[in-house]
Amino acid sequence: MNICFIMYPWETINPEHDTSLALIKECVKRGHGVAMCSPANLTIRDSVTNAFCNVIGRMEKVPSTLKSFYSKAKLREEMLPLAGFDAIFFRANPPLDPIMLNFLDSVKDDVFIVNSLQGMREANNKLYTAAFGDAHSNIIPNTHVSKNKEYLVQQIKDSKADKMILKPLNGFGGSGVILIEKSAMSNINSLLDFYISTGEGETNYVILQDYIDGADKGDIRILLLNGEPVGAMRRVPGSDDHRSNVSAGGSIQKHTLTKAEKALCKQIGPKLVKDGLYFVGIDVIGGKLVEVNVMSPGGITYMNKVYKNKRKVEEKVIDFLESKVLDKLQAFDRRARLRKTVEEA
Ligand SMILES: Nc1ncnc2c1ncn2[C@@H]1O[C@H](COP(=O)(O)OP(=O)(O)O)[C@@H](O)[C@H]1O
Ligand SMILES: [Mg+2]
Repeated sequence: MNICFIMYPWETINPEHDTSLALIKECVKRGHGVAMCSPANLTIRDSVTNAFCNVIGRMEKVPSTLKSFYSKAKLREEMLPLAGFDAIFFRANPPLDPIMLNFLDSVKDDVFIVNSLQGMREANNKLYTAAFGDAHSNIIPNTHVSKNKEYLVQQIKDSKADKMILKPLNGFGGSGVILIEKSAMSNINSLLDFYISTGEGETNYVILQDYIDGADKGDIRILLLNGEPVGAMRRVPGSDDHRSNVSAGGSIQKHTLTKAEKALCKQIGPKLVKDGLYFVGIDVIGGKLVEVNVMSPGGITYMNKVYKNKRKVEEKVIDFLESKVLDKLQAFDRRARLRKTVEEA
């Protein structure tokens, strides 16, 4: 099959740890055609949605390490129609460009897209997670999202806990996630002004969330494929940061899912699948859901490293992609056969 990865530029890939690169390598290893483009490369040519792609040359022998695969891969530039691919694997970083989704709308009936466009529309920022639970479900820590500074200040004052988390709606990699303490209330007004106003007359939503005790021992990243966990790891914050993200200095440890984490996956998996969110990374602390990452969830390479003997995560992901593409092709075939029967009647 032929797969187009819509993602960040090839030059920005970290060849030792990149999840997209591990997925691409697995596709090439299986003999699939792989092309890459960034969201800005989409172009309508003669009323057909195309992309300026980098096509990866087929390899007789695929190097075993990601690093050598990255350095040996030969890229060829070509403009290609998106509807000619069997699958599109969307792996660009937030924020999600709504115009890009409109380009993809034109091919969504022809090509299997991970994650679905509707799913990405709904879940591309932290509002999806913030509205996941309600006051009774206990899935997420108590959360407020607002642009109203007075409301947020009041929530901080009324909170029983001394610590809370403040974060932007659209961040990733730990950027802008800060720990606030009631004992340092004099900074809060200024911080909220900074988070809410962009300085260009526009305003941003801010997330205010209960701090989950135990977060200093790390968070759990779980990768869910078609609603089921396929890999997990613990990320432990560095000594001078409260955030566990690897890009914020966190380190990786082996983790076996607890009963509570397995139950959480069971609870949220069906909704993720229903929303077309087939490949998702969730962040969990103390059994509570902190974030659902749907755009470019990572962690595959770290998980493979800590679970050396198990089947690699990328193999499971590409198995799933192949089965979805097969389903789609069989549906096309069936329709063609039925049309022929009617035409010939
Ligand atoms: N409510 C919370 N309680 C404790 N720590 C948190 C909380 N929310 C976020 N963090 C810490 O900050 C990190 C980044 O937050 P997250 O919501 O996952 O945003 P990002 O998209 O930047 O990864 C988490 O992995 C965790 O270490
Ligand atoms: Mg996160």
